[in-house]
Amino acid sequence: MWSLVHNALLLLSPSIPSNHLLPAGEPSHLQPSQRYHDTFLTDGGSWHTALEKAQNVVVKMTLEEKVNLTTAVTGPCQANSGGVPRLGIPGLCFNDGPTGPRYTDFITQWPSAFTVAASFDRDLVEARAVRIGKEFRGKGINVELGPVTGGPLGRSPYAGRNWEAFTPDPYLSSTLSFLTVRGMQSSGLITCAKHYILYEQEPVCDGPLDNEGGRTGCRDVSSEVDDKTMRELYLPSFAETVRAGTGAIMCSYNKINGTAACESDDALNRILKDELGFKGLILTPWYASKQNGDYPKVNYQKYDLSDRVDVNGKVFRNEHVDNRGDNHLFARKVAAESTVLLKNSGVLPLKGVRRIGVFGSDADYPPTLSGCGPDLFCMVESKRRYWNGTVTIGGGSGAAYADYIAAPIEAISWRARQERIRVDQVLHDDSAHYGAMSWVAYQSEVCIVFVSLFLVEGWDREHLRLDKEGEELIKHVEKHCSGEVVVVLHAGGQLIVEDWIDLPKIGAVLFAGYPGQETGNAIVDILWGDVNPSAKGKGSYPKAFFGERLAIDYKWYDQHNITPRFEFGHGLSYTTFEMSSLNIEEKWIEDPDTIQKTNEAYDGHHGLYDILYVARVNVTNTGKVLGAEVAQLYMTYPSSEKDQPPKHLRGYSKVYLYPGQTGVVEFHLRKKDLSVWDVKRQKWVIPTGKFIFRAGNSSANTSLDLEAELRIDSVH
Ligand SMILES: *[C@@H]1O[C@H](CO)[C@@H](O)[C@H](O)[C@H]1NC(C)=O
Ligand SMILES: *[C@@H]1O[C@H](CO)[C@@H](O)[C@H](O)[C@H]1NC(C)=O
Ligand SMILES: *[C@@H]1O[C@H](CO)[C@@H](O)[C@H](O)[C@H]1NC(C)=O
Ligand SMILES: *[C@@H]1O[C@H](CO)[C@@H](O)[C@H](O)[C@H]1NC(C)=O
Ligand SMILES: *[C@@H]1O[C@H](CO)[C@@H](O)[C@H](O)[C@H]1NC(C)=O
Ligand SMILES: *[C@@H]1O[C@H](CO)[C@@H](O)[C@H](O)[C@H]1NC(C)=O
Repeated sequence: MWSLVHNALLLLSPSIPSNHLLPAGEPSHLQPSQRYHDTFLTDGGSWHTALEKAQNVVVKMTLEEKVNLTTAVTGPCQANSGGVPRLGIPGLCFNDGPTGPRYTDFITQWPSAFTVAASFDRDLVEARAVRIGKEFRGKGINVELGPVTGGPLGRSPYAGRNWEAFTPDPYLSSTLSFLTVRGMQSSGLITCAKHYILYEQEPVCDGPLDNEGGRTGCRDVSSEVDDKTMRELYLPSFAETVRAGTGAIMCSYNKINGTAACESDDALNRILKDELGFKGLILTPWYASKQNGDYPKVNYQKYDLSDRVDVNGKVFRNEHVDNRGDNHLFARKVAAESTVLLKNSGVLPLKGVRRIGVFGSDADYPPTLSGCGPDLFCMVESKRRYWNGTVTIGGGSGAAYADYIAAPIEAISWRARQERIRVDQVLHDDSAHYGAMSWVAYQSEVCIVFVSLFLVEGWDREHLRLDKEGEELIKHVEKHCSGEVVVVLHAGGQLIVEDWIDLPKIGAVLFAGYPGQETGNAIVDILWGDVNPSAKGKGSYPKAFFGERLAIDYKWYDQHNITPRFEFGHGLSYTTFEMSSLNIEEKWIEDPDTIQKTNEAYDGHHGLYDILYVARVNVTNTGKVLGAEVAQLYMTYPSSEKDQPPKHLRGYSKVYLYPGQTGVVEFHLRKKDLSVWDVKRQKWVIPTGKFIFRAGNSSANTSLDLEAELRIDSVH
């Protein structure tokens, strides 16, 4: 059941021309000012003209027409709103989801947000968004039910939907949220940023499973978060989606301070509509058909979606239209650029090897593809929640149903054949096949083990381990392999790797996330070194307990002096880099990219999103091959700020360098990046005192000689 809440003024927004397609080409070819400002940013925001037009037309509507416009009707899409034919206003087509159009065919299954965030590559993320947006528009969809922009953010590593979101770091998450909304909407699609807000875990269910494996006795969790943490940690990603002009926002299933998020006057009216100035439409999420229990009551008109489009896309709009173009090539690039090399003895990239062994069902084709998908509703074995075959995406509304999967075994076999390499395989996980595995491992010069963790909407994790006892599989292969072992992890969340990562023959470990349909081709690009890995891990293992406030993920480790196995921002390359000469210059640049202004309150005379300082660091490729490094800038607030974790990411930039080449990386520090939320005065202020900035290649490797101190004048 679902409904549209509040106004539907969006229908008339000039910033979102619903039938207008931009010419082909990646967004980075155009400057933001050329693309958006001239056309859309009039009188401070993209909504200005739309609001005026909407007000003029709403007064002409009958009550029946107003209700029609804001509620669901039966139609060709996953959800449809009614129109007002008398005034020439069409109904809208709404459809899942963040990784591609769901419930239809001839689409691309893209790497998930969690995966692509690891690329730390702004251009890549926006280009992915542009291409996803065009696939949606080409299918006749007006409103994409995505992206996931900070709900969940990733407070707990146990949350079942973290793979749909970017990262627990609010700076990385919010910058990528802005680019994703801007990219997706550039084709005329309306994005629905979700799930607003504080949706950090799935409902708690303590009833028995029903006959179909569904959960019973479910209760929503109430998120109790203080004002400062709300503003500084959980709200920034949504603020950026509003600033990027998102046309819609979906509220969330959880409660906030005991009130359903979709009914929270504080969260919806005071914060989202007044403070952020959001003028689009707010959608309530709908009930997954197999979930029972006490969900928030929908406070408006209700509509039963049990008759939704069938999975073969029979009644889908623009059925069987194929507008993928060369998206498979780009999806492959995104997947490879998002693969993190966690460890490498030198076994990668592969060279001179003649016999490879491949192990694990995660290297194999999944059993079903079209007509279904790795979904909550048609998963192979709902009770055990596992997915047979390679894991390319998580389950639930965030999944897109691939038209094909380039399975790892397929891609490796093709590549190996060209190189006259022999490939032996045992694509099982269970101990019944350990005998065959021992033999194959013994014959192999390099053993590649594929293991996975499949996450599904509606189910939080019970542990931080691999599915199907993947740890045992790794240990068994390691014991018998004649050469070194390469472990490939397909997972949508954090994992404990301690029982196997230091074993003597574990040569390399790749974290490939949920790479989408091009999974096999992308991993081959990395294994053979056609793509030099440059992605970075961006979640360690926080002990998320109530009351950690701002200190989630790496900030918790910093605050408690804990050294995680792989820190936030860690990721290796086939080359090496050095950084030098960090400097920071005061330089005011008027807000360069806002599409829709927010009403956030702040001190001083420059705008909250104006750039006040520019930091620069030199990065040199000191190795032997072309590669990319992500330079990262971390900030420490003045000591007057007692509640702050030791450091915050405040800049990142990826630079491609030839051996011996030096590049200068720039970080733009906006007023908001330097500010904190003053709870008493209810506004953003720059704290007085000494700021410390450090540059480095991860949150742990920021060296002292790349440190700069700054006193920032609070009247800025
Ligand atoms: C309600 O919307 C539907 C679908 O767009 C349309 O066919 C119908 O005429 C609308 N009703 C009114 C009263 O405008
Ligand atoms: C929830 O309650 C806390 C503690 O009273 C308060 O600081 C916070 O502002 C409330 N959040 C919302 C969204 O109302
Ligand atoms: C999944 O794979 C295992 C091992 O190959 C097999 O025993 C099982 O029947 C499969 N399950 C489904 C539902 O296909
Ligand atoms: C930083 O790089 C720039 C551009 O290559 C160069 O001009 C400058 O001298 C470098 N600084 C240092 C300290 O190496
Ligand atoms: C990361 O930076 C540290 C110095 O802070 C350096 O020792 C290390 O080699 C760098 N790692 C890589 C992979 O470049
Ligand atoms: C970061 O530094 C630590 C030592 O402080 C080192 O063990 C680790 O390999 C470094 N990480 C990277 C990515 O260079």
